Amino acid sequence: MHADATPPIPSDSVSLVVTSPPFLDVVDYAQDNWLRCWFAGIDPKSVRLTVPRKLDAWATAMTRVFQELHRVLQPGGHVAFEVGEVHGGRIKLEETVLPCAIAAGFEPVLVLINDQEFTKTANCWGVDNNNMGTNTNRVVVVRKELR
Ligand SMILES: C[S@@+](CC[C@H](N)C(=O)[O-])C[C@H]1O[C@@H](n2cnc3c(N)ncnc32)[C@H](O)[C@@H]1O
Repeated sequence: MHADATPPIPSDSVSLVVTSPPFLDVVDYAQDNWLRCWFAGIDPKSVRLTVPRKLDAWATAMTRVFQELHRVLQPGGHVAFEVGEVHGGRIKLEETVLPCAIAAGFEPVLVLINDQEFTKTANCWGVDNNNMGTNTNRVVVVRKELR
C-alpha cells in the first residue's frame, strides 16, 4: 500500500508512527527488497515505489505522506521519521522533512542525530564506513496538535 493513501486505517486512530522513507533515488529498493518479496510471493516490479531524483519532488511526495499521517494519527500522536544524509553529505534530508511536516499541520518536537563510528551492514560487501552511502541517522519527531 502506498504510504500517502491508507484508507483501511481509520482517522484519528494511531498513537505513534515510526517510519523511514526512501532517501531520494540513492537505493534500488526493488532489488533491496527482493528477499522479502520472494518470501511473500510479491513481484517487486509490481510495487509502485517512490523514487524521486530531485529534492523538490521528494518534498512534494513526503508532504503528501505527512498529510495522510496527520489524518490517521490521534490528536497528540507522534511521528518519528528517520532519514539520512545523502549525496556525500551535501543533502541533509531532515532539513527538508521539517517544512513538509509543518505544511501538513504538525508541530515540531525534536531532531535526533545519531552520528558515530560504526560498522554498518553494507561494510560486509565493501562499502566503507563513514565514506560511501548514508552514515548518520536523523530522526525527525513531530506531533499532531491536541484539539
Ligand atoms: C529507507 S528504506 C526503509 C526500510 C525499512 N527500515 C524496512 O526495514 O523496510 C525505505 C523503504 O520505503 C519503501 N517505499 C518506497 N516507496 C514507498 C511508498 N510509496 N510507500 C511505502 N513505502 C515505500 C522502500 O521499498 C523501502 O523499503
